[in-house]
Amino acid sequence: MFFSSEAASASFLLPLTARDFLSYACVVAALFFIYINTSFGIIGSACEDIEGWLSEQKSVINFSFAGVSKSSDTLPLRAAANENLAIAFNITNSLTTISPSTHKFFLKTASSIINRSDRDWTVLFETARSTLIAELIRDTSQPLHLAEVTRITCLIVVLVDNFHVPSPASLPRESLVIITDQINDQWLKAKLSTKPVPSPLLSHHLSILQLALRSSDRVLKPEEILGTIMPQYETLWRVVLVTYLLAFHLYSSPTLQDRISSVPECLGTNFDEEKEALKLAKEGLRLTPSNKRIYRHTPAPNSQKVKADLELMHRHPSIWGWSALKFNPSRFDNLTKLQTEAYLPYSIRPHRCPASGGFGDRMVTCLVVAMGRVLDTATGKVDNVGYPCNAERKGVIGTARDELEGWRYTPTVYK
Ligand SMILES: *[C@@H]1O[C@H](CO)[C@@H](O)[C@H](O)[C@H]1NC(C)=O
Ligand SMILES: *[C@@H]1O[C@H](CO)[C@@H](O)[C@H](O)[C@H]1NC(C)=O
Ligand SMILES: *[C@@H]1O[C@H](CO)[C@@H](O)[C@H](O)[C@H]1NC(C)=O
Ligand SMILES: *[C@@H]1O[C@H](CO)[C@@H](O)[C@H](O)[C@H]1NC(C)=O
Repeated sequence: MFFSSEAASASFLLPLTARDFLSYACVVAALFFIYINTSFGIIGSACEDIEGWLSEQKSVINFSFAGVSKSSDTLPLRAAANENLAIAFNITNSLTTISPSTHKFFLKTASSIINRSDRDWTVLFETARSTLIAELIRDTSQPLHLAEVTRITCLIVVLVDNFHVPSPASLPRESLVIITDQINDQWLKAKLSTKPVPSPLLSHHLSILQLALRSSDRVLKPEEILGTIMPQYETLWRVVLVTYLLAFHLYSSPTLQDRISSVPECLGTNFDEEKEALKLAKEGLRLTPSNKRIYRHTPAPNSQKVKADLELMHRHPSIWGWSALKFNPSRFDNLTKLQTEAYLPYSIRPHRCPASGGFGDRMVTCLVVAMGRVLDTATGKVDNVGYPCNAERKGVIGTARDELEGWRYTPTVYK
């Protein structure tokens, strides 16, 4: 998973191009065609050139559009699109650097965290579960603010996994709330056309966490903590929240409990039970890829921003059929060749996300199932205070930040 580099340089946003328009028109045409097809039994294909479109999207993602592949050439085309994020968060990592050695160092650090052999998924699951229970009983006078609770839970689990926090319950809640809010705010500021400035409040509350997060030999600086956790935490919480809402509340299926019955014990085993459980994350990441669009710059001197529409690749009816917008983990039982080629939640070489080897799917599944067990349908219900129809509507839910903020969980039974 990557930063949504979408935030980075909204100031250079190109207007909707004719091609974008065509690809959206194609979706509408295809949906209409499917309707006609099913109504009148006509056989055919609405978008003949879907493979050509897909290949173009992928050539943006893998930099072949610019004819480059070495990291010294690809990094600047990505960093240019992430410039405002680098400033807003005062971080240097693979997503913001143009230096191959900084990139290599970051990848090595990230890989050593992700590839750790001593990870115990049951501990991470229990960390999530106990955090959620504490949130549930913290203030019973009002419904649970799901976006906030999801952010805190994801942040705690990422901190525990990355830095071996001995007693996560002792992390000061107020700082976690401020850190997650500030990350959100800074993100939004990075989208504006004015240059963002780093947040002293964010830095201050990260430094409050410093002592709890000793790395093996020294105290980490606030921007080191942030540079490490951002690519994980920020890509995680929205997909966790949306997948939880879809899987447990809006599309709860009779096969769900079976699918997740062996979580968390199955995580990390590669057994069939795990493969079934991970389809929950795969389908969540299909509908809500951490990056809706992937931005690159064209090489200097006439540097321009270009984008690949990952969300559309993951939802296109010519690729995914009539049920493209439906949450259905079983579709991963057997993807077609075209679907396999269009499904890129972790991007592709040369900048494939280090979490792609199973870690990302496991982390999402672990957190989503913890939420589903603690905040389940038998003991409460969800609704969206800002967008009441969201909770009624079947189908994809809005993932714009303010739409996500409206979700509440109201317990009917306290455990
Ligand atoms: C990049 O993607 C395009 C489109 O799928 C493909 O034709 C090309 O071979 C890829 N390039 C590399 C270097 O992988
Ligand atoms: C930004 O990070 C650098 C170290 O990378 C640090 O020295 C500096 O104080 C930070 N600036 C702010 C405003 O936090
Ligand atoms: C993790 O380790 C496996 C083999 O043990 C390797 O194939 C993979 O590339 C490593 N992943 C990262 C991100 O380093
Ligand atoms: C998967 O789908 C393909 C094409 O629809 C079909 O040929 C194949 O037998 C299916 N495989 C399984 C395991 O269902």
